[in-house]
Amino acid sequence: MAIIPLMKQVHEKIRKWYKKHGRKELPWRNTADPYPIYLSEIMLQQTQVNTVLERYYFPFLKKFPTFEALGKAPLDDVMKMWEGLGYYNRAKNLHRTAALLCQKEKQTQENSTTLPSDINALMELPGIGINTAHAIAAFAFRQSVPVMEANVKRILCRLHKLTTPTDKILWELAYSHLDKKHSFDYNQAMMDIGATLCTPKNPHCTQCPLSALCLGKEEPTRYPTKKKRVVPKKEQHIMLTVYDDKLALSQRTGKFLHGLWGFPSTEVPLCASEYLGEVSHAYTHFKLLCKVWIYYETDSTQEHYFTVEEIRKLAISKVDEKIVKLYLDTIQHNTEGGFQYGG
Ligand code: ADE
Repeated sequence: MAIIPLMKQVHEKIRKWYKKHGRKELPWRNTADPYPIYLSEIMLQQTQVNTVLERYYFPFLKKFPTFEALGKAPLDDVMKMWEGLGYYNRAKNLHRTAALLCQKEKQTQENSTTLPSDINALMELPGIGINTAHAIAAFAFRQSVPVMEANVKRILCRLHKLTTPTDKILWELAYSHLDKKHSFDYNQAMMDIGATLCTPKNPHCTQCPLSALCLGKEEPTRYPTKKKRVVPKKEQHIMLTVYDDKLALSQRTGKFLHGLWGFPSTEVPLCASEYLGEVSHAYTHFKLLCKVWIYYETDSTQEHYFTVEEIRKLAISKVDEKIVKLYLDTIQHNTEGGFQYGG
């Protein structure tokens, strides 16, 4: 069959598949409000749907229900709601974008703060790249443009037997495959097909509505080529400074975990400190091993000290959470043994 009628048939199959199997109940697919759609796209950038749904999306919307509420909130409160979700730059950019939109509204006297609908204007906002701009245009403003994320990329690579395509080629293919008449359902379906059928391992090609078009279905897992990444290991000494049963933390200002509160690292632990143990955490680009040392002060020398209860209210990283747990386990262990740690 010629390619155009075949494409039409495939579009129809995708539509039918989406009606029957699509995740149509996802909350961001059932609203016309750009704000929650934008929020979902930012949360989903590097995070699985289930994590976003189970722990982050609803509490965040409850705390910051509009662009205005988000833009006017203190950054610390935003970071706290993002705690554990990782890639904290996303939260900072979300906050900056909301603040920018609020500013714009004030200047132009518009009566509602919202995003621009134009893809290029969207890409000028902090944290919105080409993929997110397309997703917002497609889902919040119902424009007939394709979306691109890991699942869609994998489908396109398999359809065309591509091992290492450039972004330019992928976008050209995405535009040429789009069902322009039913683009909203088509885009959501492509993501669902990638997540449930065209999976990285053991894809279910016989059930796939794109099967008639797919050149790679004989050996789908060859496409795209997986990049073998060697994850470097980093080691740090972490100082826990204790004064009056409180721990010293500071707010991070560097690129890594910016805005979160945390325990400082040190080149060389203080002579008078005791070794507490180690914690590790796997980030995407490296594995971090922290050797944790504790030092009991008799005078307060640091700027901020917090009780464990107070630390629970701060936005801290997963590693620092593990360090607090190590600290609590150690004191509990030493107290149970009749010995007061640091006493
Ligand atoms: N990932 C990015 N956008 C998504 C959406 N709308 N539904 C499911 N997963 C997504």
